Amino acid sequence: MEKIVIEGSQKLSGEVRISGAKNAAVAILPATILAGSACTIKNLPMVKDVTYLRDMLIQMGGKIHIHDNDKITIDTSGISTSKIDLELAKRMRASYYFLGALLSRFKKAEVPFPGGCNIGVRPIDLHIKGLEALGAKIKISHGLIRAAADELRGARIYLDVVSVGATINIMLAACMAKGTTTIENAAKEPYIVDTANFLNALGACIKGAGTDVIKIKGVKSLGGCEHSVIPDQMEAGTYMIAAASTKGDVLIKDIIPTHLDAVSAKLREMGAEVTEYEDSIRVKAPTRLKAVNIKTMPYPGFPTDMQQPMSVLLSVSEGTSIVTESIFESRFKYFDELRRMGAKIKIEGRVAVIEGITKLTGAPIYATDLRAGAAMVVAGLTAEGKTTISNIGYIERGYERLEEKLINLGSKIRRIEDK
Ligand code: UD1
Repeated sequence: MEKIVIEGSQKLSGEVRISGAKNAAVAILPATILAGSACTIKNLPMVKDVTYLRDMLIQMGGKIHIHDNDKITIDTSGISTSKIDLELAKRMRASYYFLGALLSRFKKAEVPFPGGCNIGVRPIDLHIKGLEALGAKIKISHGLIRAAADELRGARIYLDVVSVGATINIMLAACMAKGTTTIENAAKEPYIVDTANFLNALGACIKGAGTDVIKIKGVKSLGGCEHSVIPDQMEAGTYMIAAASTKGDVLIKDIIPTHLDAVSAKLREMGAEVTEYEDSIRVKAPTRLKAVNIKTMPYPGFPTDMQQPMSVLLSVSEGTSIVTESIFESRFKYFDELRRMGAKIKIEGRVAVIEGITKLTGAPIYATDLRAGAAMVVAGLTAEGKTTISNIGYIERGYERLEEKLINLGSKIRRIEDK
């Protein structure tokens, strides 16, 4: 395993191009199974989660042709198995999308309990309830989820917790079910809209994605398509926050600015200059910003994935901020690492009180999960002196060409062997 070393306190400046959205890509790759023919996916971020899924598709009999760094064609016509590679699947959360995808195409699926970041209990009961409502019989034993159905039938499904994963998994399973499926209290994240657009391009009939009621009229079969993945709002948000916390001036390019409204609004409230253009946002923060309160909520609320990088910025802002994490109960573990850098943070359950200090100081720190890893990078960029981040495998799961992009923005960041 390698480490990232950052010599901090360099103002970020210049332009950065944002890659395709990891959370959309990890749904779309398993969804290619529904096509049963060739799909060309563009703007695919080459992050570890994406390469694991690509490798799983290859192991199952899928044929992959790489045209370009971010453009691949996946032909799933040769896939005949309803099982996935257990070792690869356990490394990530999104392997659960194979459940809906395989069930839809083969009427059976066998996947392991998902892995991924340890940020809370992360049950999958809603996925299972949704698939059972469509007619699947589900058995869980020895860490495996086995699903089978003679026939999938449309149903009305109310999600009692808003869940990105459950919404997408049910959409996948419902595309070729008999009749119409309605998902109520559906998640509204842009990844859901992108996955629905992909499935509709295959020939599915999905309406309402992006609202809290999604209707899926089952069709008999689906075919191939060409699709471009939406830009990654979390990668963009991370660069916006890093620009603000280093008192920099950065143009974040090739994005959909409305996906970042919650982050932009908070940065403006703190005193940063945030200018939106058609497909880019410029963040400029010449002086120390002011404290604000944050409560994480499902989209379009403030994203839980940005809670961690944002808390780094709050820890060097003027005044006291209150951060409430309402989605994942264990998403504050990284505060121990920030405290090593001097941050003053008290935690009471799901609420953190951050008393802003004038500067963080570099220290050896540890990435406790993917977005906490991104937060550690923001902390290293912001701090005075040298920061060494270990356990960076998490960061590689979601950030494409991180060092290259940050070096282009003027930061001093490098990778070293972890001896
Ligand atoms: C997705 C994102 C992750 C993001 C999260 C919330 C992917 C691959 N990951 O994760 O980056 O942080 O959305 O925006 O897209 N829940 C249940 N039962 C279930 C499923 C979820 O109770 O069956 C709960 C969870 O514990 C959590 C809440 O619902 O409290 C939201 O989770 P969910 O939206 O499902 O998150 P993921 O899809 O795992």
